[in-house]
Amino acid sequence: MCGIVGAILKRGQVLQGMIEGLRVLEYRGYDSAGVAVATADGIRVAKKAGRLEGLEGVLVERDFPDAQAGIGHTRWATHGPPTDLNAHPHVDDSGQVAVVHNGIIENYLELRDELQAKGIELKSDTDTEVLTQLIGEELKDSGLAVAVGRALARVRGYYAIAVLRGGSSPEVVCARQGPPLLVGLAREGTWLGSDVLAVIPHTRDVIFLEDGDIAELTASEVTVRDMEGKVVKRESQRVDWEASHTGKGQWPHFMLKEIHEQPDVLAHTSFHRIDEEQGDVRFDEGGWTDADLAGIDCIQGIACGTALHAAHVTRSLIEGLARVPVDLDFASEFRYRDPIVRPGTLALAISQSGETADTLAALRKARELGARTACICNVAGSTMVRESDSALMTQAGPEIGVASTKAFVAQLVAAYLLAIRLGRARGVLSRDRGRELLNDLRTLRPKMEQLLSDDFREHVLGIAQRHQGVKGFLFLGRGINYPIALEGALKLKEISYMHAEGYAAGEMKHGPIAMIEAWMSSVVVTGHGLMAQKVRSNIEQIRARGGPVIAVGADRESLDLADEAMEVPDCGEWLSPILNVIPLQLLSYEIARLRGCDIDKPRNLAKSVTVE
Ligand code: M6R
Repeated sequence: MCGIVGAILKRGQVLQGMIEGLRVLEYRGYDSAGVAVATADGIRVAKKAGRLEGLEGVLVERDFPDAQAGIGHTRWATHGPPTDLNAHPHVDDSGQVAVVHNGIIENYLELRDELQAKGIELKSDTDTEVLTQLIGEELKDSGLAVAVGRALARVRGYYAIAVLRGGSSPEVVCARQGPPLLVGLAREGTWLGSDVLAVIPHTRDVIFLEDGDIAELTASEVTVRDMEGKVVKRESQRVDWEASHTGKGQWPHFMLKEIHEQPDVLAHTSFHRIDEEQGDVRFDEGGWTDADLAGIDCIQGIACGTALHAAHVTRSLIEGLARVPVDLDFASEFRYRDPIVRPGTLALAISQSGETADTLAALRKARELGARTACICNVAGSTMVRESDSALMTQAGPEIGVASTKAFVAQLVAAYLLAIRLGRARGVLSRDRGRELLNDLRTLRPKMEQLLSDDFREHVLGIAQRHQGVKGFLFLGRGINYPIALEGALKLKEISYMHAEGYAAGEMKHGPIAMIEAWMSSVVVTGHGLMAQKVRSNIEQIRARGGPVIAVGADRESLDLADEAMEVPDCGEWLSPILNVIPLQLLSYEIARLRGCDIDKPRNLAKSVTVE
């Protein structure tokens, strides 16, 4: 979704750094971009619908001035189409302040009428311009931070905003209610961003703003106040991501780079947490000791998209290994139904970003209803991590490709560790069984690497070539691998725009079987034990109706029955989703590449969905 960057500097020029920041934020998804800088005469703005290159063209054409204070934005349209006029920053009637905004002002229509009645002419269709004019109005009799506070007090909705005032002593104020916003403390000045990645080229010391915070930035300090104007203390944190993580290196796409990082993600997320001696897992994060886990009788999983597929696997792992009942829901459904949360419930959110609006809302609802809250999350300092009673961090590093790959694998690894921890804490898993399970995890890395060899990729490419022209894909799986079928279908849809459906294989005969024909390819994730037998009959049934089958997994008999096979090393049932998903990620990647799609920035998608 939208991205914000900005700075006020002691030395150096801000424009280049802002453009670099916006480039880093491109991965979040956007349809227009803009910047504003402060000059002695006021504000100068450049904005353009389309990609960042368009904005850069405008900057060159207009010989846009550089400056030491500025704000920038990548917009993902909500109010009004993606046009130059609707792009941010917006400037107030007096030309004194510019505003960039992530979020939605819900009462903007009534505020717009009020402004129009005062004779203020609004130029765009956006809710943001309404807020900008309100700030401009308040500025007539107060300083910038107070004016921002007063304007925000009139607004209903959620926002992260950055406000720039021009003149000989430029000012920058930012505020947050909902979407993330942080301030970076660098030697050359103070940066702000909606995402840590926008500021880490300059500094790794950041202050994560909290809801209701209004921060006044100077080139050497930050003062944070609440909505009543009272100064509040916010500690800075050192983030351990490197600026180099934000580059593609030699890879043609972030997605391919991130798929290949998965063996490292396994190692970083798990190896230091393994207690070999005890056949157990130790988390540095608080909230996971035997005593902490003693009162948990059931788990409510909540997540969206790929993270929800990880939650499905988490359910199989926790129920199977720790015997704790797990219920699941789409976060977007959970937040609006009237759920029953039993005493002893742990609400477990899973999220790469820790900022997904639906997941946050669902987690807050679960807390209101009496649940203890926890999250499996990839971004330290994110809202979800800060608001949860306990957090379990995945160590996937920044994920830039919009289609989640390595974060998903990290979530599966974290879930496996959590299931073992729960099983050991509850006395359901013996020390020896814990050791066996951890040993299986330790030996997984070379098996993942086999699936990332050039030969295997060539093999997958061949399958992609033979199937890229079909009418659609059906992905089928059972048990712990049912969510892998869902994930395979989602990946393919997201980046290749081909129609794909993920289904529980046992449901095939209740409807989807009607779709089987020569131009409908089925990708079948094979199983273990009884599940393997069941999946074999699915393969036979599809083939009997003339449908081509691509089988993925370790079950030899299933692979032999299929037309095409993507063979995966055997690693036992509990870890099989981690290996099975890799060929599916590669298949989607290759099909999307053959079809000429924009793999890292698929149309209409945003990396982090921070609005409803
Ligand atoms: O940041 P989150 O993990 O909470 O994001 C959840 C979904 O929006 C995300 O997984 C989405 O489905 C991805 N595009 C999947 O590739």
